[in-house]
Amino acid sequence: MAGRIPPEFIDDLLARTDIVDLINRRVPLRRGGKDFHACCPFHDEKTPSFTVSREKQFYHCFGCGAHGTAIGFLMDYEHQDFLDVVKDLASEAGLEIPRSGELVSKGPDPRPLYAMMEQAADLFRQQLRQHPSAVRAVGYLKGRGLSGEIAAAFGIGYAPPGWDFLLTRLGLDDETRSQLIQCGLVIDQDGRCYDRFRERIIFPIHDRRGRFIGFGGRILGDGKPKYLNSPETPIFHKSRELYGLYQALQANRKVERLLVVEGYMDVIALAQFGISYAVATLGTATTSEHLRQLLPQTPELVFCFDGDRAGRGAAWKALEISLPQTTGQQQIRFLFLPDGEDPDTLIRKEGQGAFEHRIRHAPSLSEFLFERLTDQVDMSSLDGKARLAALASPLIARVPKGLFRDMLNQRLASLVGVAAPQLEGGQTNARPTVRHPARRPPANRQATTPLRLAIALILQHPHLAPAATSIANDWRRLEKPGISLLNELIDLIESHPELTPASITERWRGRDSHHHLQRLADPQLLAHIPEDGLEAELIGALHRLLEETRAMHSEGLFNRASTAEWTEEEKMMLRRSILLRHHNKT
Ligand code: GTP
Ligand code: MN
Repeated sequence: MAGRIPPEFIDDLLARTDIVDLINRRVPLRRGGKDFHACCPFHDEKTPSFTVSREKQFYHCFGCGAHGTAIGFLMDYEHQDFLDVVKDLASEAGLEIPRSGELVSKGPDPRPLYAMMEQAADLFRQQLRQHPSAVRAVGYLKGRGLSGEIAAAFGIGYAPPGWDFLLTRLGLDDETRSQLIQCGLVIDQDGRCYDRFRERIIFPIHDRRGRFIGFGGRILGDGKPKYLNSPETPIFHKSRELYGLYQALQANRKVERLLVVEGYMDVIALAQFGISYAVATLGTATTSEHLRQLLPQTPELVFCFDGDRAGRGAAWKALEISLPQTTGQQQIRFLFLPDGEDPDTLIRKEGQGAFEHRIRHAPSLSEFLFERLTDQVDMSSLDGKARLAALASPLIARVPKGLFRDMLNQRLASLVGVAAPQLEGGQTNARPTVRHPARRPPANRQATTPLRLAIALILQHPHLAPAATSIANDWRRLEKPGISLLNELIDLIESHPELTPASITERWRGRDSHHHLQRLADPQLLAHIPEDGLEAELIGALHRLLEETRAMHSEGLFNRASTAEWTEEEKMMLRRSILLRHHNKT
């Protein structure tokens, strides 16, 4: 997603957008000192703890931990995806989005493609009623228990046998033929064109707005491949779209729950039996992009899996990708079905009531998390408990800062039998009783490692980056997670000194380290450092890293056979690191 738009364009866009203006138009802000404040739009509160910084072009909520750039704000506040937000901001700023790569080669205006998909969907639907060979298809659907009503509600169709059904009806000239190819409906093999979907039952796939974006085609009966799906096209992205979401949003004025299942037939059978809130991924695992689509729509999200090992594995993956988007705003559950059943077979056997009973009793995210982890260790031993803490802490750390994360830490603490603050490196996460940022007690200095501190300082105050390169740079070779992030950050600022913290963070969007950076953009981490002490703090942090590097280096030296192999410089380094270590102990 982010990769398609050049990062320089995002920089430019953010440079022309003022986050204070932008938020103020949606959530009225009041000035207080350097920053602007309001009651947080992302959680319920009476005293304002939502802060917007014009200087940093960031917002941050001291209450719920929500934070981000102008782009992030619009994504969360207006439930839009990245590309839509960028488009809106670009048109407001009067900028043209440079259409690079994929966008260009697949045609810039997608509207004819949507129109083509709709015509195809109409034709397929018609064939299910009219084509002489459709009797078999109708028979198959009836045999699987589908009612005519539900088939109509999901727009199920039939692609007749033959190689050129759509081609001869919709591909009348070069332009329409090319559109059919771009839509993935027709395959062009060295100039020979033929229909992709032949003699299959057709499940149309809609986007959230109800446009036709793809098709799934099932073979009648057994045979391979069982399903043939539309390929990725300019309007169809499997990792983002969900089958049945449009119908679920249509059927429920207010969605109370969404259930994520695996198959088209599962969604349809569930709907037929009264569960109109199921959606299916399109033959892929659940992605964070899917979650970004689903979570804002519903207070409860339930993942449904087979009870077998593969199902448990898939559930764990879903849990891992959920963590960074779990704020406690939504209830997330994991439903495991009995062996050999899928939602389609089960709902037909036991009906809506029993199925919903299962949903209501499915383990929540935190229950599933701790059950899975405690199963892996021996909870009767001290070592087992330590192992549990080691396994759980990095997972909990992926949850956005806030009440829910605090609760997970407390649960872990009670399981291993220590006080919660000790688990997060001495950092207390309890909600401040006084929410006003100015009166918040300063963050505990110990909470931040030298590395995190250095990244936070440089990210939030890019003008400090040259100071980092002014001291010995041995630390840049330290092998430690995070060092490469710090290196990259410094290099980026060196080549683009004009970047704001917001533009810098945006450059990492889509990468694993994006959430680390976002977290380190939290001004609270540096609240205890006076403005004129920032540079000294950075130098101090880097010196501590340097010291670590040298200590490691000297260990390496000790492993050598004899000091005779040492260079003068190495000897000096060792003396220095011994001195430093001695100095630290006193
Ligand atoms: P039925 O077997 O008709 O009940 O279909 P189902 O929808 O229950 O499918 P199943 O649980 O076997 O698979 C889940 C999903 O994975 C399907 O809905 C498809 O999206 C995808 N899928 C299954 N088989 C294939 C295949 O052969 N090729 C592709 N591309 N996708 C498949
Ligand atoms: Mn099935």
